[in-house]
Amino acid sequence: MAENENEINQPENETKETAYRGPWGLLIRGMWRTPLGLFGVALTTISITLMLVGLVIDQLGFIHNPYLGVIIFMILPGGMVTGLLIIPIAAYLRRRQFHKFGISRDHLQINLSDHRHRKFVIGFVVLSVINISILGIIAYEGYHFTDSAYFCGQVCHQVMEPEYKAYQRSPHVRVPCVECHIGPGADWFVRAKISGLRQVLAVITDSFSRPIPAPVTHLRPARDTCEHCHWPEKFHGKKVKIFNHFSNDDQENPEVHEIALHIGGRNPQTDEFEGIHWHVSANNEVSYLAVDEKRTQIARVRVKRPDGSFSEFVKEDIEVPEGTELEWRVMDCIDCHNRPTHIYDLPEERVDFGLLSKAINPEITGIREDSLIAINKQYETREDAQENMVNHLVNLQTLRNPENVEEHGDDIKKAGEYLLKTYLDNVWPELNVQWGTYMQHLGHQHEDLGYGCFRCHDEEHNNEEGDTITQDCSLCHDEPDF
Ligand code: HEC
Ligand code: HEC
Ligand code: HEC
Ligand code: HEC
Ligand code: HEC
Repeated sequence: MAENENEINQPENETKETAYRGPWGLLIRGMWRTPLGLFGVALTTISITLMLVGLVIDQLGFIHNPYLGVIIFMILPGGMVTGLLIIPIAAYLRRRQFHKFGISRDHLQINLSDHRHRKFVIGFVVLSVINISILGIIAYEGYHFTDSAYFCGQVCHQVMEPEYKAYQRSPHVRVPCVECHIGPGADWFVRAKISGLRQVLAVITDSFSRPIPAPVTHLRPARDTCEHCHWPEKFHGKKVKIFNHFSNDDQENPEVHEIALHIGGRNPQTDEFEGIHWHVSANNEVSYLAVDEKRTQIARVRVKRPDGSFSEFVKEDIEVPEGTELEWRVMDCIDCHNRPTHIYDLPEERVDFGLLSKAINPEITGIREDSLIAINKQYETREDAQENMVNHLVNLQTLRNPENVEEHGDDIKKAGEYLLKTYLDNVWPELNVQWGTYMQHLGHQHEDLGYGCFRCHDEEHNNEEGDTITQDCSLCHDEPDF
């Protein structure tokens, strides 16, 4: 402070030349000599240094922590820019203070024939280029970072854990989230970042929906996402799929359903679209009107065919509420493949798979029934399941037959561990994600809950000619032998 006052008192005695340096000199010194200016300079320097160190560590792949990314690509650049803004503000405030004391009323001017000014201008330009380059690199890397599956799935860790976990064991695990959720183009990018901000806010204020609702109403149409990698015209022909079902009465010999699905596509021999992928051919358009948000109650279905003909199929017993704005939806990949990557299992499937793969020893009496009870139990939290599920299975077996436990103790524990892992892959009680919260539309195994092909293929949607949308088994797959 004392030094400052000295300075303030001095200028009258200065020579003309130093007086001329006045406004610039004061401005530049303003950057260093006030606490605010010093803070700005320190903030910028520290931010840049840490950012560069972080960038190198990140590029070398040493650290696998999503929060490091948030710090390097969001917080530190914020610090750097704030620091850079504070410096001229500090200088301006100091200059104004000097003005108040009437020290120098000169205007700032740049005189390039003055070597000090030249040095100042060159220094300023060089520093700016360096700063802008650093910000550019950070923005580029940060853009990729916020688009990575890693960021989407892990930074909002707790919120999207179910989706991330299911994604990690799916056929699309190498496809970044943004390929399906944002797709190419600037407008969707901006929309996604805006809705992303809203979501971050919902996470911070803990006001996000539990579970996250499906279907996603504003999902980008499949032609802009799925069809960038998959070609609807591709002829898949038939695909054989085998389903194994055990029962409590027979844990050792599965009932096998082998079916050949008529996936189809554009048949190269006939040049016609056929089979299941007929719905997504460019020549046909199937659209539908659902009366519920889950799209399980389909009241009307329209078909436009390549020859220009048109049919509307109506299901009389689903009432279309009047006055509400229901939207016709053109069928695309998502109406069948609603779970291409967030594929959740069902308990019975997993228990049967355990028996088939011998993770659950089928020789233990009653193990199928007890496994289903243990895995379906409503645990309060995932920790609760971790602590109690294995014991629960052992207790059920003890009640059934204590000798079972003596003979197969280790196998029962092993079965319990398998069930627990499956449970932890699929259930998050704290987020209200239970078994069956997110169901598939691919087949008709869960038609009773309104999922799958039989939403339309139920022989109950009639057109004017009295035709229905057929449920003939051989339309979609070779008839299974039972
Ligand atoms: C192959 C495409 C694809 C990829 C990759 C993908 N998703 Fe999805 N995701 C979907 C589709 C399709 C839905 C819509 C499901 C519906 O509407 O029923 C969805 C739905 C969601 C939902 C809503 C809740 C739900 O389960 O329906 C969340 C949250 C989500 N995805 C997060 C992610 C995250 C995080 C990643 C990356 C780790 C990711 N997604 C990767 C296709 C994808
Ligand atoms: C970035 C490219 C990409 C995008 C986008 C993409 N997929 Fe895929 N998809 C793949 C690849 C690659 C495979 C093959 C994975 C394998 O067989 O290992 C695949 C496999 C599949 C399969 C077969 C799965 C199986 O069980 O074998 C289906 C069905 C599928 N995708 C549907 C979709 C749908 C629906 C969307 C849009 C929501 C979509 N894909 C978006 C690349 C993509
Ligand atoms: C009418 C329902 C339906 C629609 C619409 C649909 N699919 Fe499929 N798709 C199926 C069924 C059913 C299968 C066989 C599923 C299985 O393997 O269990 C299948 C299989 C596939 C496969 C795997 C083929 C193979 O040989 O393993 C891919 C890839 C695929 N679909 C992509 C798409 C894409 C991309 C779209 C949108 C352009 C689409 N599907 C639209 C029902 C549909
Ligand atoms: C939104 C309603 C709807 C859903 C859901 C639906 N379909 Fe269809 N599907 C139709 C209509 C409408 C037709 C054409 C009926 C007609 O023209 O007589 C059709 C025709 C078909 C055909 C015959 C195509 C041809 O070659 O002419 C197959 C195969 C088929 N569907 C399979 C499926 C499968 C498999 C699923 C479930 C994964 C499914 N559909 C889900 C409405 C639907
Ligand atoms: C609209 C098309 C369609 C019709 C009609 C249809 N199915 Fe299916 N069915 C499918 C699809 C798609 C799958 C495969 C589902 C999957 O991949 O999980 C399937 C799977 C199956 C399976 C194996 C599933 C399991 O868990 O064992 C059986 C069995 C089956 N269908 C029987 C029938 C019978 C019987 C009929 C006639 C009454 C019939 N289906 C009519 C589309 C159809």
